Amino acid sequence: MNFKDYITIVPDWPKPGIKFKDISTLMDNGEAYRAATDEIMKYAKDKEIDIIVGPEARGFIVGCPVAYALGVGFAPVRKEGKLPREVIKVDYGLEYGKDVLTIHKDAIKPGQRVLITDDLLATGGTIEATIKLVEELGGVVAGIAFLIELSYLDGREKLEGYDVFTLMTY
Ligand code: PRP
Repeated sequence: MNFKDYITIVPDWPKPGIKFKDISTLMDNGEAYRAATDEIMKYAKDKEIDIIVGPEARGFIVGCPVAYALGVGFAPVRKEGKLPREVIKVDYGLEYGKDVLTIHKDAIKPGQRVLITDDLLATGGTIEATIKLVEELGGVVAGIAFLIELSYLDGREKLEGYDVFTLMTY
Protein backbone atom coordinates (compact mmCIF):
# COMPACT_ATOMS: atom_id res chain seq x y z
CA MET A 1 0.00 0.00 0.00
CA ASN A 2 1.23 3.50 -0.78
CA PHE A 3 0.46 5.15 2.54
CA LYS A 4 1.22 8.65 1.27
CA ASP A 5 -1.90 8.40 -0.93
CA TYR A 6 -3.92 8.60 2.30
CA ILE A 7 -2.18 11.66 3.77
CA THR A 8 -3.68 15.06 2.94
CA ILE A 9 -1.25 17.95 2.62
CA VAL A 10 -2.91 21.12 3.95
CA PRO A 11 -1.10 24.30 2.86
CA ASP A 12 -0.58 27.17 5.33
CA TRP A 13 -1.93 25.35 8.39
CA PRO A 14 -1.68 25.99 11.31
CA LYS A 15 0.54 28.86 10.14
CA PRO A 16 1.46 30.42 6.77
CA GLY A 17 4.26 28.45 5.12
CA ILE A 18 3.57 25.15 6.94
CA LYS A 19 2.42 22.25 4.77
CA PHE A 20 0.50 20.26 7.37
CA LYS A 21 0.43 16.48 6.93
CA ASP A 22 -3.11 15.47 7.89
CA ILE A 23 -3.31 11.82 8.98
CA SER A 24 -7.09 11.93 9.50
CA THR A 25 -7.63 10.76 5.91
CA LEU A 26 -5.54 7.67 6.67
CA MET A 27 -7.30 7.01 9.98
CA ASP A 28 -10.81 7.30 8.55
CA ASN A 29 -10.04 4.60 5.98
CA GLY A 30 -10.39 1.22 7.65
CA GLU A 31 -8.08 -0.61 5.25
CA ALA A 32 -5.32 2.01 5.43
CA TYR A 33 -5.54 2.40 9.21
CA ARG A 34 -5.32 -1.35 9.69
CA ALA A 35 -2.42 -1.68 7.22
CA ALA A 36 -0.48 1.12 8.95
CA THR A 37 -1.13 -0.50 12.34
CA ASP A 38 0.04 -3.85 10.95
CA GLU A 39 3.33 -2.31 9.76
CA ILE A 40 4.07 -0.93 13.23
CA MET A 41 3.02 -4.22 14.80
CA LYS A 42 5.46 -6.10 12.52
CA TYR A 43 8.22 -3.70 13.51
CA ALA A 44 7.48 -4.18 17.21
CA LYS A 45 6.56 -7.83 17.49
CA ASP A 46 10.05 -9.24 18.17
CA LYS A 47 11.02 -6.49 20.59
CA GLU A 48 9.37 -8.05 23.64
CA ILE A 49 7.36 -4.92 24.29
CA ASP A 50 5.67 -4.72 27.72
CA ILE A 51 3.82 -1.46 27.22
CA ILE A 52 3.22 1.26 24.64
CA VAL A 53 3.56 4.95 25.48
CA GLY A 54 2.28 7.73 23.23
CA PRO A 55 1.91 11.50 23.56
CA GLU A 56 -1.45 13.16 23.09
CA ALA A 57 -3.35 13.34 20.95
CA ARG A 58 -2.25 11.55 17.81
CA GLY A 59 0.21 9.28 19.63
CA PHE A 60 -2.90 7.62 21.09
CA ILE A 61 -4.44 7.06 17.66
CA VAL A 62 -1.27 5.35 16.45
CA GLY A 63 -0.37 3.47 19.63
CA CYS A 64 -3.66 2.10 20.94
CA PRO A 65 -4.48 -0.25 18.05
CA VAL A 66 -0.90 -1.56 18.18
CA ALA A 67 -1.29 -2.18 21.92
CA TYR A 68 -4.45 -4.14 21.21
CA ALA A 69 -2.75 -6.14 18.46
CA LEU A 70 0.25 -6.98 20.65
CA GLY A 71 -1.90 -7.65 23.72
CA VAL A 72 -0.05 -5.08 25.84
CA GLY A 73 -1.14 -1.97 27.70
CA PHE A 74 -0.98 1.68 26.70
CA ALA A 75 0.15 4.57 28.93
CA PRO A 76 -0.75 8.11 27.86
CA VAL A 77 1.65 11.06 27.94
CA ARG A 78 -0.39 14.23 28.31
CA LYS A 79 0.01 17.96 28.52
CA GLU A 80 0.15 19.41 32.05
CA GLY A 81 -3.05 19.36 34.10
CA LYS A 82 -4.74 16.50 32.25
CA LEU A 83 -3.70 13.38 34.20
CA PRO A 84 -5.58 12.91 37.49
CA ARG A 85 -2.96 11.22 39.71
CA GLU A 86 0.67 11.81 40.68
CA VAL A 87 2.80 12.63 37.63
CA ILE A 88 6.35 13.40 36.64
CA LYS A 89 6.84 16.16 34.09
CA VAL A 90 9.25 17.53 31.54
CA ASP A 91 9.48 20.81 29.57
CA TYR A 92 9.82 20.50 25.84
CA GLY A 93 10.04 22.57 22.68
CA LEU A 94 7.82 21.72 19.73
CA GLU A 95 7.61 22.80 16.12
CA TYR A 96 5.45 25.85 16.86
CA GLY A 97 6.00 26.64 20.60
CA LYS A 98 6.73 25.24 24.07
CA ASP A 99 4.83 23.07 26.53
CA VAL A 100 5.01 20.58 29.42
CA LEU A 101 4.39 16.84 29.12
CA THR A 102 3.47 14.53 31.98
CA ILE A 103 3.04 10.82 32.70
CA HIS A 104 1.58 9.03 35.71
CA LYS A 105 4.36 8.09 38.11
CA ASP A 106 3.21 4.46 38.26
CA ALA A 107 2.58 4.05 34.52
CA ILE A 108 5.80 2.13 33.87
CA LYS A 109 7.61 -0.32 36.11
CA PRO A 110 11.44 -0.25 36.17
CA GLY A 111 12.86 -2.53 33.47
CA GLN A 112 9.72 -2.63 31.36
CA ARG A 113 10.36 -2.56 27.62
CA VAL A 114 8.53 0.34 26.02
CA LEU A 115 7.45 1.09 22.46
CA ILE A 116 6.84 4.81 21.93
CA THR A 117 4.39 5.79 19.18
CA ASP A 118 3.38 9.05 17.55
CA ASP A 119 2.02 10.23 14.23
CA LEU A 120 4.82 12.59 13.32
CA LEU A 121 8.55 13.12 13.86
CA ALA A 122 9.13 16.83 13.17
CA THR A 123 11.79 18.53 15.35
CA GLY A 124 11.81 15.52 17.68
CA GLY A 125 11.07 17.64 20.76
CA THR A 126 7.91 15.76 21.71
CA ILE A 127 9.53 12.34 21.50
CA GLU A 128 12.73 13.47 23.19
CA ALA A 129 10.55 14.61 26.12
CA THR A 130 8.57 11.35 26.04
CA ILE A 131 11.82 9.35 26.17
CA LYS A 132 12.92 11.39 29.22
CA LEU A 133 9.66 10.56 31.02
CA VAL A 134 9.92 6.84 30.20
CA GLU A 135 13.56 6.61 31.26
CA GLU A 136 12.99 8.61 34.46
CA LEU A 137 10.50 5.91 35.46
CA GLY A 138 13.07 3.20 34.70
CA GLY A 139 11.54 2.08 31.40
CA VAL A 140 13.71 0.81 28.55
CA VAL A 141 12.89 2.40 25.18
CA ALA A 142 12.96 -0.67 22.93
CA GLY A 143 11.59 1.09 19.86
CA ILE A 144 9.99 4.27 18.57
CA ALA A 145 7.45 4.20 15.72
CA PHE A 146 6.00 7.06 13.70
CA LEU A 147 3.68 7.24 10.73
CA ILE A 148 5.53 10.23 9.25
CA GLU A 149 9.04 11.66 9.44
CA LEU A 150 9.77 15.19 8.21
CA SER A 151 13.40 14.48 7.44
CA TYR A 152 14.21 18.12 6.63
CA LEU A 153 13.62 19.06 10.30
CA ASP A 154 16.36 16.65 11.46
CA GLY A 155 14.34 15.26 14.38
CA ARG A 156 16.25 11.99 14.07
CA GLU A 157 19.39 13.66 15.43
CA LYS A 158 17.63 13.92 18.80
CA LEU A 159 16.89 10.18 18.69
CA GLU A 160 20.41 8.96 18.01
CA GLY A 161 21.12 5.60 19.59
CA TYR A 162 17.41 4.63 19.60
CA ASP A 163 15.71 2.15 17.31
CA VAL A 164 13.39 4.27 15.13
CA PHE A 165 10.79 3.18 12.56
CA THR A 166 8.92 5.54 10.25
CA LEU A 167 6.30 4.46 7.74
CA MET A 168 6.57 7.53 5.48
CA THR A 169 9.27 10.14 4.95
CA TYR A 170 8.90 13.63 3.47
C1 PRP B 1 2.35 17.20 16.94
C2 PRP B 1 2.51 15.77 16.46
C3 PRP B 1 3.68 15.26 17.26
C4 PRP B 1 4.53 16.50 17.42
C5 PRP B 1 5.69 16.47 16.47
O1 PRP B 1 1.63 17.19 18.11
O2 PRP B 1 1.33 15.02 16.67
O3 PRP B 1 3.29 14.79 18.54
O4 PRP B 1 3.70 17.65 17.13
O5 PRP B 1 6.49 17.61 16.57
P1 PRP B 1 7.97 17.62 17.14
O6 PRP B 1 8.70 16.42 16.59
O7 PRP B 1 8.52 18.91 16.60
O8 PRP B 1 7.90 17.60 18.62
P2 PRP B 1 1.08 18.50 18.86
O9 PRP B 1 2.10 18.97 19.81
O10 PRP B 1 0.58 19.44 17.81
O11 PRP B 1 -0.10 17.93 19.78
P3 PRP B 1 -1.53 17.29 19.43
O12 PRP B 1 -1.26 15.94 18.77
O13 PRP B 1 -2.16 17.13 20.76
O14 PRP B 1 -2.23 18.23 18.50
